[in-house]
Amino acid sequence: MCGIVGIVSEKPFEVGELIKALKRLEYRGYDSVGFATDKGVVEKDVGEIKDFMTRVDLKQTAKVAISHTRWATHGGVTKTNAHPHTDCSGDIMIVHNGIIENFIELKNELKKEGHKIISDTDSELIAHFFEGKDIKKACVDFFKKVRGTFAVLIIKKGGEEIYALKKDSPLALGIADGMNIIGSDIYAFSDKTNKAIFFDDNEFAIIGPRSYEFFDKEGNPIEKHVQEFEWSSREEEKKKYKHFMIKEIKEQPIVAERLIRSLETEQKEKILELKNMIENAKRIIFVAAGTSYHASLLGTYFLHESGVEAHALIASEFNSFATVDDETLIIAISQSGETMDVIKSIKFARESGAKIASIVNVPYSSIQRLSDISLNILAGQEICVASTKTFTNQVILLLYLCSLLGYKTNFRELVRNMQNIFEQEEKIKELAKELKDKKDIYVIGRAMAYPVAREIALKLKEISYIHAEGMMGGELKHGTIALIEDGVPVISLIPEGDEDIISNTKEVEARGARTIIISSQPMKKTDFAIPSGNGGTFAILSNMIGQMLTYYIALEKGLPIDKPRNLAKSVTVK
Ligand code: AGP
Repeated sequence: MCGIVGIVSEKPFEVGELIKALKRLEYRGYDSVGFATDKGVVEKDVGEIKDFMTRVDLKQTAKVAISHTRWATHGGVTKTNAHPHTDCSGDIMIVHNGIIENFIELKNELKKEGHKIISDTDSELIAHFFEGKDIKKACVDFFKKVRGTFAVLIIKKGGEEIYALKKDSPLALGIADGMNIIGSDIYAFSDKTNKAIFFDDNEFAIIGPRSYEFFDKEGNPIEKHVQEFEWSSREEEKKKYKHFMIKEIKEQPIVAERLIRSLETEQKEKILELKNMIENAKRIIFVAAGTSYHASLLGTYFLHESGVEAHALIASEFNSFATVDDETLIIAISQSGETMDVIKSIKFARESGAKIASIVNVPYSSIQRLSDISLNILAGQEICVASTKTFTNQVILLLYLCSLLGYKTNFRELVRNMQNIFEQEEKIKELAKELKDKKDIYVIGRAMAYPVAREIALKLKEISYIHAEGMMGGELKHGTIALIEDGVPVISLIPEGDEDIISNTKEVEARGARTIIISSQPMKKTDFAIPSGNGGTFAILSNMIGQMLTYYIALEKGLPIDKPRNLAKSVTVK
């Protein structure tokens, strides 16, 4: 999943403007970066945008330019594999987000035609495919020939427009004054305009400074509508915080409050409609990935507590395990709204007639536009690759939905308790010093604490680079307990009324584990006390402790935190 941005303008613009727009998409991947202009300039290198910007002349101008920030799929992280790629002549320059599935067949054909392929990527083949051709006609051939997922921007040396093609990978056109900006999502241009055209699958467009023509994959002209979108265009700054992660952890009470208010007002109708869809569905299946999957597990728990049966499937396995028909309701949860595994699952379910609901953070995202009904968690842009405030708002939205089905939550008290959790920050910093050099950490919980155990373990892995396992407390004794020995840290999540998790905790203590207790029931040895409430409030508050713990461990270890190695914020490849 990469980020791509193109600008075509009436007046010359500085390349720095293009790279600034690209930087807003850096959460989509940051292995390498590059740009190309209508003057035939191509500059690219491995590493992050901020370093690249110190090495290139940002004052150089262009009227047409494209750029790319990469998360490597085909081909290692090298300068040659960085985008943009060119054809043999250097006249055609392209950037690509996605994967070409039949790249071997395509590569062999192009090599037979005499093309010199210099990189290990599938993307470079696109530039050679268009070499020496009428680009518009070649777009039609491209859709016929190429299998896979792609958002592609193409420019020609001396050309005055950008050609943009879209299938599965996201692409949006921002209509600004005397300038058109094409990006992987609205963040690329939300500081310049609130007017956008969203590409649908199997479309291409020819975009000039004040014009755009859209075509279907056969080359027939199609009508597209300009949409006005609401999105905070103010630049996300860290302000007084060292990292976006701690900023986003700290702003959770505010964004929670904003979501709850919206569910009581402008999103009230939609949440009531989703409640009705749940009451009328024969089968309810959540589909999500990563942290959003952990939120969906909590969704199944809250629905169970409301007397409704639901299941949660990990998106990459959905097609192998889901039984779907026209009485099935699919609830897709996705912060980015662009996770390819979720998109593929939704398309699979739609083919069987299922109704699609989604809970997203990024408005106008692909998943939102594929849904019959979609709710926004309104967490604002989450810059840190690790999900924190968006997880909490996903859970709050699910709690609010289930409060309409009988599983009551005191939301005002919850937001107050979320703010109070930060009073334990100093204790968390101390514990981080103790855990920072540990090789393995286990997190155990039952019922609503089990998804939290998994979520805390995921944060420990992706932010603190410590191997961690989040497990059902009752499952530990069926094998994994063999790994518990003197001093191994086990974080135990103990909500009030849960006696069994106390037994599981004693089982590991008996084998020398260093247990850390996060509990809402009065216990002799509680490291972090959580105010009592229902399962949802325990889940949110205990997870906030976990979020801060992983942050401070990573800080102690001097790790990158906002952009962890090998990761990207939005996984738009299968
Ligand atoms: C969580 O911290 C990770 N960033 C990752 O697991 C993420 O939750 C997953 O890729 C799903 O992303 P989505 O919510 O945008 O679909």
